Amino acid sequence: MKLVGDKVYLRYPTVDDAEEIFERLTSKIRRTAHIGAKTVQDQRAWLKSHPKMRREKQEIHFAIVEKKTEEIIGLGGFCNLHMRKKYGEVGVWITESKWKKGFAKEATKLFMKYGFEDLNLNRVEAVARVKNPAAWRLLENLGMTREGTLRQRAKLGDKPADDYMYSILKSEWGKKNANNRD
Ligand SMILES: CC(C)(COP(=O)(O)OP(=O)(O)OC[C@H]1O[C@@H](n2cnc3c(N)ncnc32)[C@H](O)[C@@H]1OP(=O)(O)O)[C@@H](O)C(=O)NCCC(=O)NCCS
Repeated sequence: MKLVGDKVYLRYPTVDDAEEIFERLTSKIRRTAHIGAKTVQDQRAWLKSHPKMRREKQEIHFAIVEKKTEEIIGLGGFCNLHMRKKYGEVGVWITESKWKKGFAKEATKLFMKYGFEDLNLNRVEAVARVKNPAAWRLLENLGMTREGTLRQRAKLGDKPADDYMYSILKSEWGKKNANNRD
């Protein structure tokens, strides 16, 4: 499976990618993204579990590869997939040296297209820390609606933190694409 954009393409990550992925995960990324892996071994084990999670459509993650360098610059995709209810939660992280270059926007657009067209989801949702404007700007720019605040549902460092809940429906996404807006 390969999803292709202008600057990046997305492919399933493999166990052999563990080191490359792990070294991109700085503490700033860990602060706001849900990263379970504390060691390369954890990273390897997590990647090893992917084919089964994909087959069972529980979680589907992609490595984000920069076309120009062929390097993995981030990871993202769907966790909390509910195929019967037709919704899933999208998430993404990009390595710090590549921030603010439009990579997350392009990759997340591809995740949404995959979610609505290939997985036939009706709703794509996402959560973003209230104190993480980069994340909620990204989601709002992609046409997602802020539905409310999930109070102290998350952690920022050791402290409880609020999340915003976002979503976009297939009908809204279809309209946005039909109008060919960016
Ligand atoms: C959030 C994150 C994925 C954004 O990645 P990115 O590649 O820098 O984002 P993009 O360059 O595609 O920018 C998307 C939008 O967010 C805005 N943005 C990016 N970083 C920002 C920042 N630090 N502050 C305010 N806005 C920011 C951009 O200006 C852009 O908006 P625009 O189209 O109006 O210019 C990245 O900061 C990251 O990996 N953070 C850590 C993990 C995380 O928090 N993930 C989000 C979970 S949903």
